[in-house]
Amino acid sequence: MIKIFLSIAILFISLHANEVNIYTHRHYPSDKILFKKFTQKTGIKINVVQANSDQIMKRLEEEGKYSPADLLLTVDVGRLYLAKEKDLFQPIKSKFLEEVIPLNLRDKEGYWFGVTKRARVLVYNLDTVNPKSLSTYEALTNKDYKGAILTQTSTNIYNQSLLASFIAHYGEEKAKAWAKGVSENFARKPTGGDRDQMRALAAGVAKIAIVNTYYVGQLMNSKNFSDKAVTERIGIFFPNQGENERGTHINISGIGVTKYAKNRDNAIKFIEFLCSPEAQKIFSEVNYEYPVNKNVAPSKLLESWGSFKEDSIQLYKLGENNAKAVKIFNEVGWK
Ligand SMILES: [Fe+2]
Repeated sequence: MIKIFLSIAILFISLHANEVNIYTHRHYPSDKILFKKFTQKTGIKINVVQANSDQIMKRLEEEGKYSPADLLLTVDVGRLYLAKEKDLFQPIKSKFLEEVIPLNLRDKEGYWFGVTKRARVLVYNLDTVNPKSLSTYEALTNKDYKGAILTQTSTNIYNQSLLASFIAHYGEEKAKAWAKGVSENFARKPTGGDRDQMRALAAGVAKIAIVNTYYVGQLMNSKNFSDKAVTERIGIFFPNQGENERGTHINISGIGVTKYAKNRDNAIKFIEFLCSPEAQKIFSEVNYEYPVNKNVAPSKLLESWGSFKEDSIQLYKLGENNAKAVKIFNEVGWK
């Protein structure tokens, strides 16, 4: 009898151990493919809870040690930094991850790891802008661009991180002057997402928009004819490429093992899988993101946009300066 009970208990534990629970804010086809592949490869079942970024983090926080989540997958280093600050992650050690992911794209103590990379670039209207006239983010404050620039609101974390990079590089005063100068050149009151900026750009509302690269890829491959047509009217420009320039601003989508993960080993296996060459290629081909694994080349489409110098700032500094960036946006009226 005891033997039967023990074997049932062991069976239960092993069944329980053969799964991993993910809280994610990402909602892309690439991720669904990757979840399936991971289970096929390892036999580890994946349970996914998906919600918007603030909801998912709040839920994890409220559940505390009773949370079923083993992993939190989200976008933008600002959020990963915040999750670490809120004590939602635990540090992990992985020789493989440390070897393939450059140090600036992961937490140095192992609390979070970048899994994909995106650049925040300038896209321009091919009819009205000569790309030779483009140079840097800084140049967007030039009075010649009055009424020419489109971007999202200041509540958007991608813009917050871009401004945080200015603060980290040059200090608050210069960052504030930049934010003020750019907001004075807006073509309209910021509204919509990155794809909406490109739609407006192609319609002639402005000359330049600040957007993340994967949205360009999404529009290019859209089944919607008018969205596809948008990309025929716009060009991509990687700013700050000069010899003494810092490079184009990049950010990550990333993941961390939760503080109270019950399936810690499976969680680590999953992060390692996401950073494997096989998974990195899928991120790049299906969701138009750049690999974080330094041994993996971007997809053909991304390569066709050209290689570029990246701002190599330690990304945690963007999280560190996020609150200051939000304050500056409010002060200069970048709504
Ligand atoms: Fe996004």
